Amino acid sequence: MGHGKLKKFAENETFRCLLQPAASEVLVKGSRELVLSDHAIKGNWGRDMFGNDNPIVLELGCGGGEYTIALAERNPSVNYIGVDIKGARLWKGAKYATEHALPNVAFLRTRIEFITAFFAPSEVSEIWLTFSDPQLSGSENSRLSSPMFLERYRSFMVPGGIVHLKTDSRFLYEYTMSVIRANNLDVIACSTNVYGEGIHFCEPSLRDPSQSKLWAPPSYTAEGGHGFTEVNTLTDMVTSVQTFYEKMFLEMGLPITYLAFVIDHEGPFVYPADFDAVFWREAEGPRRSFSHQPVPRV
Ligand SMILES: C[S@@+](CC[C@H](N)C(=O)[O-])C[C@H]1O[C@@H](n2cnc3c(N)ncnc32)[C@H](O)[C@@H]1O
Repeated sequence: MGHGKLKKFAENETFRCLLQPAASEVLVKGSRELVLSDHAIKGNWGRDMFGNDNPIVLELGCGGGEYTIALAERNPSVNYIGVDIKGARLWKGAKYATEHALPNVAFLRTRIEFITAFFAPSEVSEIWLTFSDPQLSGSENSRLSSPMFLERYRSFMVPGGIVHLKTDSRFLYEYTMSVIRANNLDVIACSTNVYGEGIHFCEPSLRDPSQSKLWAPPSYTAEGGHGFTEVNTLTDMVTSVQTFYEKMFLEMGLPITYLAFVIDHEGPFVYPADFDAVFWREAEGPRRSFSHQPVPRV
């Protein structure tokens, strides 16, 4: 390991805003295999990390935490937590948050597969999935918007909790749309090219028109910003923040897509039957796989 990385890992130990639990803190021996066990921070982020009860928003796979930081700076009365497994990337966000004394930013170094060990029911209001690996040839369950992951997120999100997906991958966008349709989830906004066509709010064509059920809470509109934010609109949050990966994908000429949907759902999430993975994989063409983390069994 390079000297630079070692230095970052050592500095990571000093950041109060960065929680780096050892795997042994959340994985314990069950009768036949390792099972997840709750971390002490679960249900206590407000008290132990932020010192307030403000809403909590997660960015899963946050890399250097650009989104986490940018949203936190725009919305001081919301707490943001960036989650990633890579310590050297988290260092960047944690260092910035520490040097700028940002009271509403934290980072959690863990595998997203372990996320339920860290958050209690109704502890989280929103989740951002930013440029997640689409897992073009991986298993469906390794996609962060699969029913398996939605099931986990729902276990700790508030009623009406919102998932945002911002991605360069049309494959992942269409896959997520299929999951949304299969589970009749409410879409708030969508776009297949946020900087081209712009963002459509509550797009009715996403649904069978005969069953159209639009979700438009008054506090969450194109003009009005949403319930927790003070000054920003959803459009601004989507278009004014560009992460390292987003800039790279834009330079490659890839359109950036966006989806926001409500996670509320009765009963188990079902898997989509209408997703044409072969078609969308081919439509996407050859694509580098960035930072795929093998999924451990829990
Ligand atoms: C393509 S990068 C995107 C980073 C950042 N969101 C951005 O837009 O610049 C994907 C990130 O997800 C993280 N990641 C991928 N799989 C993960 C997993 N299972 N658990 C935790 N982090 C993961 C990687 O370490 C990487 O930083």
